[in-house]
Amino acid sequence: MKISATVAAMAAIVVGQASAYPFFMFPELLGKDAMSRSFLENVDPEFLKRAGVPTLAPYPDNFGIPKEYIFDEKLQFVDLTGENEWRAPGPDDQRGPCAGLNALANHGFISRDGVVDRDDVINGIHKGVGLSQDATVILEALTSFFNGDPVSGKWSIGGYSPKVATLGPLQEGLLGKPAGICGLGHLRSEGDASITRGDFSQPTGNNNNCRSYPQYAKELMDLAREKYPEDGRITPSILAEHQHRRKLYSIANNPNYFSPPYAGVAFTPAAHHFVFALMANKSEEFPQGYLSPENFMSWFSYTGDPQGEISYTYGHERIPAPFYKRHPLFEWTFADILAALAQQIEAFPTTMAVGGNTGTVNSFSGVNIGDLTGGAVTAMHELTDPAKLSCFLSQAIQSSTPTFISNISPALQQQFLDASVGKLFPALTAAFGECNDFLSKKGRAIESYNGTYPGATAELHDSSRELSPSP
Ligand code: HEM
Ligand SMILES: *[C@@H]1O[C@H](CO)[C@@H](O)[C@H](O)[C@H]1NC(C)=O
Ligand SMILES: *[C@@H]1O[C@H](CO)[C@@H](O)[C@H](O)[C@H]1NC(C)=O
Repeated sequence: MKISATVAAMAAIVVGQASAYPFFMFPELLGKDAMSRSFLENVDPEFLKRAGVPTLAPYPDNFGIPKEYIFDEKLQFVDLTGENEWRAPGPDDQRGPCAGLNALANHGFISRDGVVDRDDVINGIHKGVGLSQDATVILEALTSFFNGDPVSGKWSIGGYSPKVATLGPLQEGLLGKPAGICGLGHLRSEGDASITRGDFSQPTGNNNNCRSYPQYAKELMDLAREKYPEDGRITPSILAEHQHRRKLYSIANNPNYFSPPYAGVAFTPAAHHFVFALMANKSEEFPQGYLSPENFMSWFSYTGDPQGEISYTYGHERIPAPFYKRHPLFEWTFADILAALAQQIEAFPTTMAVGGNTGTVNSFSGVNIGDLTGGAVTAMHELTDPAKLSCFLSQAIQSSTPTFISNISPALQQQFLDASVGKLFPALTAAFGECNDFLSKKGRAIESYNGTYPGATAELHDSSRELSPSP
């Protein structure tokens, strides 16, 4: 009874706080019905047209970026001295899979302890790199919901931290520990086939999802050097291709590779674009940005020779000085993120394949969308209708358990989700239409695919594994 009341109270708070947010419209991001391995080689170009994906050259180097760029030295200069000087994290400070958040924490744009709240995320990220506040509001809402404490709005940019839960150990014991975006935050926003991080679901080898692996950083820099032998600059098209190669690498090397709808289709690919959009240094000569391999290494906490040996230090990400961020008129907005993803999909349609390997390498098979949605949608292309899509996403959220209630019984979890999300999403989707079709049908939690896809559960395959190494 008591637990149940707490759950209901928390649900009410979540609804109250989150209902002002606009929500996802991803018509371009979702794939065909059942995506089998042949899908990987064989995508219907008509589908992409129907999905309204902009037609672009297959490897565009200008995506999401208007030509008429301007540069203003004064407005774009980011002061990295004084309260924003670089400082190494201390032993109790959280650092994790997001190179951008790690660097911003090391410079004090967001809390140096790595436990962030709404204000941090919405103002600090804006100040440091020029990510627009419409985008951070959405990223923050989702992350605090799935990996943090939506009541306090706090979440850890690394692993579990006792500073996150509003009610402390009481709440954690009753409800569950907010995971943070490392380790068990996997599948909620953190995904496999990241730019340089390991696959959490991989049984052995490079399987830490918070730690960066030189092998992958080097692959990216080598690809850049192939295309731009004179300086090895890293561009959007190189990042797009790297993301594609990382996905194929995981399919070929990780028997448990799994790509869920959010983390796999939206988060991991979006992160690739952040590297150029937010980390490239802007100048008169390169108003859209220029990212040298040396500056990339600084942002990603590497030292050494980009064409030789490099070495990684956990959590020492650093903004290369002097740094010029995006012009205030050209902040990276949520619409830009979607456009960049759509172009990524156009160039490499495998990006949108939801599904995974079935326990052996090279066994990739797609999730059946009819099954996932309880029949509310039977073909992925139906989701090109934004009304259906937003309902689909609210249904998917209702089917996914946030980590901060992972301790309670499935029945109580469902009560929480019904109380919070059931009220929340009709409001969010009001602009697009009714979700009655969806809300009358239960979607399937992605975890329930664990019989087919071993990677569909965030559980550790080897409990002795280092979960979130400290700096
Ligand atoms: C509220 C804001 C943000 C949230 C919630 C967030 C969250 C995440 C998460 C969960 C990942 C792991 C994705 C994966 O598994 O591949 C990630 C990766 C990444 N993020 Fe962020 N992030 C945010 C802001 C930023 C910013 C501002 C930047 C750039 C300045 C950035 C750059 C990156 C990069 C480059 C990676 C890939 C790291 C790698 O694979 O080595 N992020 N982020
Ligand atoms: C950023 O660009 C400016 C202008 O070109 C340049 O002076 C500065 O050295 C660059 N910063 C880095 C870290 O490369
Ligand atoms: C795996 O799937 C079964 C059957 O759907 C479900 O009962 C179980 O809770 C799932 N395990 C995890 C860890 O999600």
